[in-house]
Amino acid sequence: MNCTKCRLHRYRTNPVPGEGPLDTDVMVVGEAPGRNEDLQGRPFVGAAGQLLNKLLLDAGLRREEVYITNIVKCRPPGNRDPKDDEISACLPYLLRQIELIKPKLIIALGRHAARVLLEQAGHKWHSMSKQHGHVYDGVISGVRLRIVVTYHPAAALYRPQIREALEKDFAEVIRREVERIRRPSSGEKRGSSQARQTSLLDFFKK
Ligand code: URA
Repeated sequence: MNCTKCRLHRYRTNPVPGEGPLDTDVMVVGEAPGRNEDLQGRPFVGAAGQLLNKLLLDAGLRREEVYITNIVKCRPPGNRDPKDDEISACLPYLLRQIELIKPKLIIALGRHAARVLLEQAGHKWHSMSKQHGHVYDGVISGVRLRIVVTYHPAAALYRPQIREALEKDFAEVIRREVERIRRPSSGEKRGSSQARQTSLLDFFKK
């Protein structure tokens, strides 16, 4: 991935496109790579990632079985928030990832992921305190899916109240949604994982 569509390419060590199986039903979308992610080229490998792994287990999911990515694929300098023009420049990558992976459930972590994904699905974004733990139906990139909005794990590291809300969202709401899509009646995934792996890699080469 040698993208130069926004200024963030000037600061990155490695782009962090995302990782995980392409035949999964569940996609996790965070905000942007941090320092550790930039160094390793992998999403959620620092302290927030450790917490995410635990939260996923609370929802009945192992990290290895979900696809994990971010709204922007390169680290903003000093871990500042991504700017609107950086988010817009990077959005086609996320839309293509959704088109190829066809998740049934997207877990949006933090307000940037929540706002972008809800707007793409035709919903309004107000605030995390009002909307965390809510489930939204929608279509993104032609894929019918559900979005659950919750707090960013990094925000929960030093704030017990946020951590409590985040843990409840994963253990109750997200767990219930995961059980729902795993029921036999929800149907088999189509398409070969191998074919999608190839087209996703081709896409990032462009
Ligand atoms: N925070 C994010 O939003 N994404 C990462 O990949 C790591 C930390």
